Amino acid sequence: MGLLLGLDIGTTGVKALVVNESGHTLARHTVEYPLLIPKPGWAEQDPSTWWTATITAIGSVLAEAGVKGADIAGIGLSGQMHSSVFLDEHDEVIRPALLWCDGRTTKQRYWITERVGGDAEMRRLVSNPPLEGFTLPKVIWLRDEEPANFRRLKTLLLPKDYVRFRLTGEKLMEVADASGTAMFDVGKRVWSEELMRKVDLPMDILVPVRESVEECGRISRNVAAMTGLREGTPVAGGGGDNACGAVGTGIVREGRVLASLGTSGVVFAHTDTVKVDPSLRAHTNCHSVPNRWCLMGVMLSAGGSLRWLRDVVADSERTSASQSGRDPYDVMAEEAAKAPIGSEGLVFLPYLSGERTPYRDANARGAFVGLSLRHGREHLMRCVFEGITFGMRDSLSIVRELGLHVSEIRATGGGARSAFWRQMQADVYGVPVVTVSASEGPAFGAALMGGVCSGMFSDLADASDQLVKIVSVSEPVPSNVARYEEWYERYRALYPALKQEFANVATVVEKHSQ
Ligand code: XUL
Repeated sequence: MGLLLGLDIGTTGVKALVVNESGHTLARHTVEYPLLIPKPGWAEQDPSTWWTATITAIGSVLAEAGVKGADIAGIGLSGQMHSSVFLDEHDEVIRPALLWCDGRTTKQRYWITERVGGDAEMRRLVSNPPLEGFTLPKVIWLRDEEPANFRRLKTLLLPKDYVRFRLTGEKLMEVADASGTAMFDVGKRVWSEELMRKVDLPMDILVPVRESVEECGRISRNVAAMTGLREGTPVAGGGGDNACGAVGTGIVREGRVLASLGTSGVVFAHTDTVKVDPSLRAHTNCHSVPNRWCLMGVMLSAGGSLRWLRDVVADSERTSASQSGRDPYDVMAEEAAKAPIGSEGLVFLPYLSGERTPYRDANARGAFVGLSLRHGREHLMRCVFEGITFGMRDSLSIVRELGLHVSEIRATGGGARSAFWRQMQADVYGVPVVTVSASEGPAFGAALMGGVCSGMFSDLADASDQLVKIVSVSEPVPSNVARYEEWYERYRALYPALKQEFANVATVVEKHSQ
């Protein structure tokens, strides 16, 4: 039997998926692990927890699918992007990995930018700035702050590639995830030797890189004995979770854009040629589709803002949801729907964890602006939905500014589940918002890559096109589009007006926290 195994090494857990050749999911299994927060703003994980969770997840998903490990023809790996795994000369992990959501590297971010020659040089060499979450500042942090550990550093890997190493014995990466290190020449799809020289890092910490659909290792005898998988089963390169999630929802042709609303919010646009934002507000990465690229805008607190509202403000919606056995977010959306478009002048800025796209500002903070005695719960709820959607529109505006025609947005995550939010997105984005049949996320896209690598499919984009079907369409309503347009302009004006004050507040907070 020709089955595929997709593995997503995420931030909260490993998700394993067994998929057949028609794209039907036979079973899914998630094994969770903790996030370590040794200090405020830091975020770490021990790579060995990914490994043990992966082995457990493989065993459980095979059992739940009722299939034998030997039935798996190909495997694909996805994972959290950017997080750093440091290995020594014996391939032992030196210290816990610094994760994509770790913010300790502001000093290193500015040092790198200056050392390399400013934003323009970063753009020329690696198409991206060295943001706090990216891998390069984490390596420089290790050199600055833990020199003894840095001296032991022999190999740098990303989370899914560490799991690959344990599964196959191969130390390899692929282009989509390598793009998020800020050390990779995204246009040429190779490591940037020039950048590594400028920041005084040796090239030999970097491992060979292949395309996402290429074979990058085979299941070892040892792992075969542990899991029942067949020794020699091919493991595809795979990709970072955003590239794999895009493939898994059919974002494999120009014109299609993914709007993923989870804790963070990601706008991911497929591009046939490499396109770089002149002011580096959006990220430019290699796509997992061979020789294609993507533009990606990342909001740090999208669903995170809504979760904050649920936990801190929406007591009565939570109570009513638990009494009626409903999801609190559905009750909050119902409340929000009672207020008119624009929330009668109440605007929410969703920068609860600072913001990446479009502002690259760790000091930015959330705000309710325009509160009046007239405003009630429905306005508070609605303006949060609106603020998050306007934040996503900021990323979409960059995609459009770079000349891409956006014909359709595919919604995933929490933003796809609510009809109210899908309609709001269609009206704010001004294009149809669709949902698709595949809702398994990155592990599904990774499984498809395993399918190409094992010869089940001949082409990744064709396979994704065939297996991912549109199941709902929300068309923009012209009168709503026009009204949202006015409120979006007001939203857009607020960050520039508050930027300096955000910085001033951060200075005072810092002073009093010492
Ligand atoms: C993308 C990013 C996140 C992580 C989450 O740049 O930082 O979406 O990939 O795993």
